[in-house]
Amino acid sequence: MDLCKICDHGLETIISFGEMPISNRFVSDLTTDEFFYDLSLGFCPKCLMVQLENCVDPDMMFNPDYAYFSSISRAMEGHFKEMADEIIVSVSDRPRPFVVELGTNDGIMLKHIAERGVPHLGVEPSANVGASAREKGVNILVEFFNSKCASEIMDSHGQADIICGANVMCHIENINSVFDGVRILLKPEGEFFFEDPYLSNIIQKTSFDQIYDEHVYYFSGLAVSGLAKRHGLELVNMVPQEVHGGSMRYYLKKGSGNPVTNNVDFFLSQEKALNLDSLEGYASFKERVDKICSDFRNVLLKIKADGKRVAAYGATSKSTTLLIYSKVGPGLIDYVSDTTPTKIGKYTPGTHIPVKSYEHFLGDSPPYTVLLAWNHKAEILEKEQEYRKGGGKFITFFPEVTIE
Ligand code: SAH
Ligand code: TYD
Repeated sequence: MDLCKICDHGLETIISFGEMPISNRFVSDLTTDEFFYDLSLGFCPKCLMVQLENCVDPDMMFNPDYAYFSSISRAMEGHFKEMADEIIVSVSDRPRPFVVELGTNDGIMLKHIAERGVPHLGVEPSANVGASAREKGVNILVEFFNSKCASEIMDSHGQADIICGANVMCHIENINSVFDGVRILLKPEGEFFFEDPYLSNIIQKTSFDQIYDEHVYYFSGLAVSGLAKRHGLELVNMVPQEVHGGSMRYYLKKGSGNPVTNNVDFFLSQEKALNLDSLEGYASFKERVDKICSDFRNVLLKIKADGKRVAAYGATSKSTTLLIYSKVGPGLIDYVSDTTPTKIGKYTPGTHIPVKSYEHFLGDSPPYTVLLAWNHKAEILEKEQEYRKGGGKFITFFPEVTIE
């Protein structure tokens, strides 16, 4: 039995997907062997954290070849500008504020803080995306954040008014060390906030493609409040976010007895109503995943049998789980269109579907396109009005397979 990475209690398995490759490692040479690990999701009945049962070594995922550049979407640019504005307001009355961001990536958020001349530091282990942030004037420390790194930052820069991170806390297996680090680095009156895909949304929508190597944790307010307490922190607010198919932003303060918003009670009660505090809440998840996958494969087989072609849109890391678990490869999807220069010309991990440029997609105009980047649906549908007017159809798969 695998043990909880937070409290060492035995994990209950929710679903096993089998062997998976590293989801952001696009393949350039099909003759070289890929690394595979066993992907399965577990629930800790003691601390209520949903998590991967086996984790991949962080150096294998986050390194100078990291494929994900945050600034790929206009909607995400807007989202992070708003986050930066909120930070600017909240530090405006502090004498010499210091803002630390974990998982800065290409500086999509912190560039706005840098532009305003606010002292800041981005902690980003993947040197390539970190270099892109530096080009935007952002101060970057190429390191994995943990308690040791936090002590070093405190010695060199002092404590922080704000520590934040988006889509990064769920990536860090050694989260106890990260929370200890936050306690060390945060000023007594400082604020720590982070956001990640929200467990309630994943379970309710069956958006199982969020489950892959980089996403070690699937946070709920129930689990985060307990985790915070273990580390001398307190969950004081929860604010839902529309991005990435439904995320939750958690606000934490040091100590206990801080004013706590009604939102926390509200979302914790909702989570309990969904039974996310017991294995029962996850009981039908695998069955629903299996249905989506067989429907998805059958729809593609039918289109193929009718002699039509299918392409896909967005070489996302999350689609690794969908494609492999559904047994969908280059026999059913001709290529995946993507705007990220470092992904183009390579092949999707494990399934080896060619990744082609967006220009190729525009010229080709395939009759059917699987919307792998479904979390950017609004932005993409707006952009692809011509494609749809010309008869092109998108295939989506949550909460059920749909052609639109
Ligand atoms: N915040 C960005 C990036 C998310 S991708 C956004 O929301 O778009 C996750 C990023 O976290 C990657 O750039 C990865 O290199 C970084 N990361 C992974 N482990 C980390 C750690 N221990 N400390 C800081 N950053 C980490
Ligand atoms: P995303 O879904 O944000 O993340 P993940 O890899 O974590 O699952 O990735 C979106 C991918 O889709 C990214 O590779 C860029 C691509 N993309 C396009 O090609 N065109 C677009 O209009 C958008 C919004 C994204």
